[in-house]
Amino acid sequence: MSLKNPAALEFLLTRRSRPAKTLVAPAPTREELMPLLTAAARSPDHGKLEPWRFIVIERAAMQRLAGLTETCGQALGKSAEDIAKARNQFDMGQLAVAVVEIRKPSDKIPAIEQTYSAGAVCLALLNAALAAGWGANWLSGWQSHDRSFCEQGLGLAENEKIAGFIHIATEGKAPPERPRPDIAALTQWVSE
Ligand SMILES: Cc1cc2nc3c(=O)[nH]c(=O)nc-3n(C[C@H](O)[C@H](O)[C@H](O)COP(=O)(O)O)c2cc1C
Repeated sequence: MSLKNPAALEFLLTRRSRPAKTLVAPAPTREELMPLLTAAARSPDHGKLEPWRFIVIERAAMQRLAGLTETCGQALGKSAEDIAKARNQFDMGQLAVAVVEIRKPSDKIPAIEQTYSAGAVCLALLNAALAAGWGANWLSGWQSHDRSFCEQGLGLAENEKIAGFIHIATEGKAPPERPRPDIAALTQWVSE
């Protein structure tokens, strides 16, 4: 059996995110989301530590997180504009998966490799959602790095961080393509 998969390669060569603010209902059901999470968890993970987990933020929880963003932003002295921009992902969100990095104790696997693995899970989830025909977007926002927000809003433990919020719903309007990197300029070939 050939391992070639031209359709998968074509998808990877043309994939692009759909800005979260353009996503509309419906979002995937729990049943529809499970294969996407399964695909995401099939990511490189040195030492099989599973240094990540998922928190699925459903529509009903979005308003609570928008309000908490407001409270945390005020406590941090953020401007009204910064707060409004940050809470927008929850005000407008249909469904988002918080990919949580869990720092696992290990003598062998450096912490940075656990972070890379969590980042890989974010991209794998984004790509699985896009491949399944959903619009999807990887967002962070200052609140994703704020301990009060993470602990009060999502119950994160001390050894946990948010690697990203992957918003998944229906594409509203297709975004224009954005400039892509010049591969020749950023690639070095070492041949001796
Ligand atoms: C870790 C991480 C955090 C991001 N956070 C945001 C964000 O908060 N707001 C935003 O507009 N884009 C954010 N982006 C950028 C978008 O996810 C994405 O890169 C951009 O829309 C183009 O994606 P594409 O190359 O898949 O088309 C973030 C990207 C990464 C990797």
